[in-house]
Amino acid sequence: MSQPAKPWVIGNWKMNLDRRAAETLAKEVADDPACGAVIRVGLAPPFPYLERVAEILGHGPVTLLGQDLHSEPRGAYTGSVSGPMLRDMGVTHVLVGHSERRRLHGEDDDMIRRKITAAVKAGLTPVVCVGEDLAQRESQRAMTTITAQVEAALPADGWPGQGEILVAYEPVWAIGTGHVAGREQVAEIHAGIRRLLPGHARILYGGSVDPDNAASLAREEEIDGLLVGSASLSAASFLAIVRATTQA
Ligand code: PGA
Repeated sequence: MSQPAKPWVIGNWKMNLDRRAAETLAKEVADDPACGAVIRVGLAPPFPYLERVAEILGHGPVTLLGQDLHSEPRGAYTGSVSGPMLRDMGVTHVLVGHSERRRLHGEDDDMIRRKITAAVKAGLTPVVCVGEDLAQRESQRAMTTITAQVEAALPADGWPGQGEILVAYEPVWAIGTGHVAGREQVAEIHAGIRRLLPGHARILYGGSVDPDNAASLAREEEIDGLLVGSASLSAASFLAIVRATTQA
């Protein structure tokens, strides 16, 4: 890991689990001594389960994240959830610009920048997700694409103060496909992203992370943590990733 700060492992549950399964999983993570000892663990449950998961996590070391937020703090936006509402639920961090939001909900760089600003205004730390698709990678445009995404995401007046800056590099072709990016591929992109951001930025990798590849990824200097989708839906595999990262 490139900095002395603790590495992250974040579970993004997406639109999965029911209430009971969410409670059970949150309890198993909250009760595991590995979570919080030498790494920072976070959970991003679906909105309806946030309050219950917040109760389960209590004042423990596991961080609660939102999966998305609206760019406005309130108003006539049926179905949306704002930054202040997430804060109210005990959320401290929020994913912004996940490729599923970009692709399936038509979120462009401008919208993502507005969401980042809204998150910061609400006192939330955004975890800004970037990543190239397969066509962009195959035409050698991965870094250009990511540079454009990161630069577009930067708030106009720069990142506020020394606040946490978290970016997740998630190549679209690696998400939910079982095709994890190679360590060297990831390291190269992370180094490129790092050059665009203040020195204290933390850069996570996501895309088909599982208990078998987590240790090797986590050992890579350039990788400050992991963002886990499918493998975060069972306590066994998520905690195996947490342990692998702890030992890396
Ligand atoms: P995956 O998802 O681990 O299922 O590939 C990662 C993500 O979308 O954050």
